[in-house]
Amino acid sequence: MTDMRVTLAGVELKNPIVVASGTFGFGHEYGELFDLSELGGICVKGTTVSRRDGNPSPRIAETPSGILNAVGLQNPGVDAFCAEEVPLLRKFDTKIIANISGNTLEEYALLSEKVSAAGVDLIEVNISCPNVKAGGMAFGTDPRSAAAATDAVKRKAGKVPVMTKLSPNVTDITEIARAAESAGADALSLINTLLGMRIDVRTRRPIIRNNTGGLSGPAVLPVAVRMVWQVANAVKVPLLGMGGVASGSDAAELMMAGASAVAVGTALFGDPYAAVRVRSELEEFCETNGVAAVRELTGSVRPW
Ligand SMILES: Cc1cc2nc3c(=O)[nH]c(=O)nc-3n(C[C@H](O)[C@H](O)[C@H](O)COP(=O)(O)O)c2cc1C
Repeated sequence: MTDMRVTLAGVELKNPIVVASGTFGFGHEYGELFDLSELGGICVKGTTVSRRDGNPSPRIAETPSGILNAVGLQNPGVDAFCAEEVPLLRKFDTKIIANISGNTLEEYALLSEKVSAAGVDLIEVNISCPNVKAGGMAFGTDPRSAAAATDAVKRKAGKVPVMTKLSPNVTDITEIARAAESAGADALSLINTLLGMRIDVRTRRPIIRNNTGGLSGPAVLPVAVRMVWQVANAVKVPLLGMGGVASGSDAAELMMAGASAVAVGTALFGDPYAAVRVRSELEEFCETNGVAAVRELTGSVRPW
């Protein structure tokens, strides 16, 4: 039996498979299909200070091997999240990862204070959402802003570890990774979606009402593997890898590139059981290949 436990920023996960923010809501619908305690952790939908209704529709377009989305951080606001969602999620034996998104440093600080007080296990700082005008990716594409947002969250997080979520929409992701690490990030997660666009040639209108959107799904896996590998070689903090994972072998790839744990996102839209299936396939891979503890996979790639 493979030991499936891993640690991420000092938090022990029963297995390395978590669900990616924005692709699992707050878990209600999926909780009717399987026991959420089977997951290593749940990254919940991005939370903001006030409730947001998100962008106008259409907000999702299919692409070859992926999807483009511009949901625009639809969520009930941090107070509703803390009062209603955290207690429901607490009933399951899994780790709760809050995902927070601010327009200003003050908002990041306030969100951090509130979600830590609500008792989440880990805070993921979203500085990489390509689908909102203010904040979001603007913080994640400049090293100083990435450091400032990380620092603002860290100062109010108390004992809750902080993980900064990096944008792939940059020239050198290691520069942002190092900036977040030096501002006190206990872990980094990557990648968020890649900025993309599709046009309906009959109407000459962008398919997504926001014009541009974030690309995710199998199409982005090679970019995620490359970026996780680069960041793992640039920082000492642990990484949560994501981007296009749809099988146990995809998860093993991201771990070999340097991730301590792996998130499954878009694959859940086609198969609501994708995360639990990826976990079983990863365990099977380890057993077939004589891997005694899954954590041995982390960073085990043998580059040429
Ligand atoms: C519909 C949708 C909504 C998302 N919402 C969020 C969000 O609120 N916060 C966040 O940090 N990332 C969000 N993401 C990004 C995912 O968490 C993940 O980083 C990205 O989709 C890559 O993983 P995947 O290819 O497995 O989906 C969203 C992605 C999708 C597809």
